[in-house]
Amino acid sequence: MNHNIAIDGPAGAGKSTIAKKIAQKRKVIYVDTGAMYRAMALFLLRQGIGPQETEKISAKCEEADITICYENGEQVVLLNGENVNGLIRTEEVSHMASGSSANPQVRKKLVRLQQALAAREDVVMDGRDIGTCVLPDAAVKVYLTAGVGVRARRRYEELLARGEVCDLSEIEKDIEERDRQDMTREISPLRQAEDAVLIDSSNMSIDDVVDAVIGLCTWK
Ligand code: DC
Repeated sequence: MNHNIAIDGPAGAGKSTIAKKIAQKRKVIYVDTGAMYRAMALFLLRQGIGPQETEKISAKCEEADITICYENGEQVVLLNGENVNGLIRTEEVSHMASGSSANPQVRKKLVRLQQALAAREDVVMDGRDIGTCVLPDAAVKVYLTAGVGVRARRRYEELLARGEVCDLSEIEKDIEERDRQDMTREISPLRQAEDAVLIDSSNMSIDDVVDAVIGLCTWK
């Protein structure tokens, strides 16, 4: 039985926080597809390739073997056998991932992997094209968003809590740019699937959003 939950939305909407909590409560696997695009971006950066070098990206991406496994309930991304979890959250990788995720070969390869994971067991999967492309038959589809100012502030507070120096207006500009790239690319742009439920978390707590998504699950 397909009991998959698809959560799409723009950067900083809180998808991974919400998806992780749902995975714990519903005892299903959480699949963070953004981490796979990030691992691919790291691979390409290591080859000296830039975000706009489409032909080089297409030629090299097949050499990246990306798999995921789980350690203590946490998703671990393996890039050619190396655990790269600690290396994929930098600004450089974010920027590269936003560019390289627009490449058709990259998407084809990673979508195949994501579909294989969801075919094996029930998942809650987050990304940009899960409801529209990866799991069009997901039992629950959510489009999770929040105002750009709210998303920027959340990211700012997260970075401050980690002791990182940051500038709120820079973060906001960066989020706007990523939204633009993700929403206007030719292949699988970020958009709400027709049958997805829109949740705007601007004025909602994490638990409210989790409850709202779980409320959409009609099975036990
Ligand atoms: O969710 P994230 O910030 O970790 O995603 C990193 C990049 O990957 C982001 O620019 C969008 C892209 N992405 C995508 O194109 N499709 C997905 N299913 C997930 C992420």
